[in-house]
Amino acid sequence: MTVSDLPQVVMLENLIFSDPWPEDAFLEQTSGDNWTALVVESDSRIIGYGCYFWAGTKAHLTNMAVHPDYRRKSVAKRLLTDILRVVRKSGCDLMTLEVRAGNADAIAFYKAFDFIELYRRPNYYRRPVEEALVMVRYITDDEEEN
Ligand SMILES: CC(C)(COP(=O)(O)OP(=O)(O)OC[C@H]1O[C@@H](n2cnc3c(N)ncnc32)[C@H](O)[C@@H]1OP(=O)(O)O)[C@@H](O)C(=O)NCCC(=O)NCCS
Repeated sequence: MTVSDLPQVVMLENLIFSDPWPEDAFLEQTSGDNWTALVVESDSRIIGYGCYFWAGTKAHLTNMAVHPDYRRKSVAKRLLTDILRVVRKSGCDLMTLEVRAGNADAIAFYKAFDFIELYRRPNYYRRPVEEALVMVRYITDDEEEN
């Protein structure tokens, strides 16, 4: 994800989320030392993105979304596989994330990726207020073979 991607990314974010990230959040995500993001394009149009950071041996997935027209086509699977491989190469052995407790699609996706629920954070989200599931997954050398 580069600065020139942000208009498309923000449009997609607004389409998908009830409490979307503002452009500044994506700007920070693309400009920090250990903060980065990947986009997926189809016909020069951004159809998905995944954002993350890492510190030491721990990585955190901060955002992930796929355009509704392109879901269940392994777009997010490809994105997360790439992210896990990259952070493994940077020395990470664990990835965490938060997801809305009612977001069954995303929870199913993360479970398919072997994330497990660690604990819950009440009132973590706004618009609507909702608790978060904190999920975790170990990252092993197998990621580098994907
Ligand atoms: C969660 C999300 C990113 C998944 O993207 P996707 O590209 O459709 O996911 P994939 O096609 O790569 O799915 C990979 C596997 O995850 C599981 N999965 C994904 N979506 C699922 C769903 N809605 N229901 C059940 N399982 C699901 C399946 O096992 C799937 O494999 P299969 O299609 O072969 O059965 C997408 O639904 C999305 O953008 N949701 C809205 C934004 C969001 O909630 N982001 C997460 C914020 S924490």
